[in-house]
Amino acid sequence: MKQRVFSGVQPSGHLHIGNYLGAIKNFVKLQHDYECIFCVVDLHAITVYQDPAELKAKILEIAALFLAAGIDPKIASLIVQSDVAAHAELAWMLTCVTPIGWLQRMTQFKAKAAQWRDKIDTEQDDQLASVGDGLLQYPVLMAADILLYQAHIVPVGDDQAQHLELTRDIAQRFNSLYGDTFVVPATKLPSVGARVMGLDDPAKKMSKSAQSANSYVGLLDPPATAKKKIMRAVTDTQPAVDFDNLGPGVQNLLGIFQAFSEWPDDRMRNHFHGKRYGDLKKEVAEMVLSHLEPFQERYRQITADPSYVAGVLRSGAERVSPIANDTVRTVKQRMGLYTE
Ligand code: TYM
Repeated sequence: MKQRVFSGVQPSGHLHIGNYLGAIKNFVKLQHDYECIFCVVDLHAITVYQDPAELKAKILEIAALFLAAGIDPKIASLIVQSDVAAHAELAWMLTCVTPIGWLQRMTQFKAKAAQWRDKIDTEQDDQLASVGDGLLQYPVLMAADILLYQAHIVPVGDDQAQHLELTRDIAQRFNSLYGDTFVVPATKLPSVGARVMGLDDPAKKMSKSAQSANSYVGLLDPPATAKKKIMRAVTDTQPAVDFDNLGPGVQNLLGIFQAFSEWPDDRMRNHFHGKRYGDLKKEVAEMVLSHLEPFQERYRQITADPSYVAGVLRSGAERVSPIANDTVRTVKQRMGLYTE
């Protein structure tokens, strides 16, 4: 039996090359050797307010982007989280075995709560004037996503590594309280591209929710826009690439190039050492566009038939539901909840 892989992407903001290099590129590779489930995690997106019409459109957009990236729905299952009710059901059961202190320690919770408070302060919107409980519970839902399918491997970018640690802790705690139930999953980070930094500020990670669109190259950015953003990327005061003294902006650009090209370290060094920053940026832009343009062409073909993506998601949900329902039944039995 093949080992199982699970991962998810939120349908919020614009998917960018960081999401692609950190996670989706690995999804495409893994699908041939593992039984893969890839999920549009819409329940995670609503941990902060989303415009309902935009959210609905975004869910289909992310699913189409998965397909455009090369995920083959014949071999991998593509699903939407809220379409399989067992995600939310298991999340509640796991909430009840998770100490609140574990959640309050999460770096992303602290950062997102602060970010949301700033937004509330600027927008003066009383209706949204609180940090929702969902933001705190977020990693438990993520643990439920993974444990529901007894996934062995979870390909993610570096910013999700702490949530994966927590998932392992929750699985182990459940197993020790109620007997061996869950597979304890392993994190899979890419060797290059696990943490792509913002182009305009290499001290911060490239982010969908960044204030400035110059932080990221969106997977659906028009090629001219993508090129402009790369040409404007922050470097440093040196004139040229010096591998013995790389500033964070230059390191980030080299990392983006290497993650797309898959060149080995020595080839990177031989090619770029001493190169002026203007030329480096031009080559990075060319490398990114050589992937982005065919990708966007596939995206246009996939979305030309709106019923296609919906059909893929329906059959994905049908395929995975028996696994999810099995796990929930076992968990209910172990916890003493009512089952017939
Ligand atoms: P999300 O939607 O923020 O990001 C999707 C994936 O992209 C990776 N990523 C990055 N990788 C490299 N550089 C970056 N700058 C960068 N930004 C984002 C993320 O690490 C992630 O792998 N909580 C998750 C979604 C989720 C999930 C799951 C993932 C929900 N349930 C179960 C795995 C398994 C999230 O918000 O990812």
